[in-house]
Amino acid sequence: MPPCWTLSRGIFLAYPVCEQKDMLRIRVLHGPNLNLLGTREQSIYGTLSLGALDSAITNLAEELAVKVDLRQSNSESELITWIQEARKGYDGIIINPAAYTHTSIAIRDAIAAAGLPTVEVHLSNIHQREEFRRRSYIAEVSIGQICGLGPIGYLLALRGLYDHLTASQRQKKMSAPGTSRRAAKGAR
Ligand code: DQA
Repeated sequence: MPPCWTLSRGIFLAYPVCEQKDMLRIRVLHGPNLNLLGTREQSIYGTLSLGALDSAITNLAEELAVKVDLRQSNSESELITWIQEARKGYDGIIINPAAYTHTSIAIRDAIAAAGLPTVEVHLSNIHQREEFRRRSYIAEVSIGQICGLGPIGYLLALRGLYDHLTASQRQKKMSAPGTSRRAAKGAR
């Protein structure tokens, strides 16, 4: 894990990224059958394994200095518990609920109750497939949905969620005294 530099009392200190107190924390959830990625219906879901996908997500998270917690379950109940738990200590959720996308009002309600910005991801384009896949109970409680782009969809989701979560901080910086365009130009 790359060190993170900070300035403390005039001295630069390096410490592991995970120890940074104000780090954003994002929970990434993979639903049923996604443990079979790489071998499952390769013409639809590709050849990348879940382990390799999780590594790519972890690498990007380190680049963004975000802490990610990655989990997969075939059980609806377990996914719901993890969503509920995320209320404590997490800033956002990325979820591929897999087949539960199209059936689970319980997962939808858990996301609504958690009240955390959530991005829904699908490897395949659910809108181009069977009719029953076009309905997502999750879309209504998500800030956005990414589908059809394969594994890169997760990385786009992470960047998008990061941008969403840091937008207010950037807004504050932009509106801080001395950072307006007039001030930058030196106008009085
Ligand atoms: C999926 C799409 C779902 O319809 C399907 O049940 C899955 C995977 C996707 O990532 O494309 O298991 O969520």
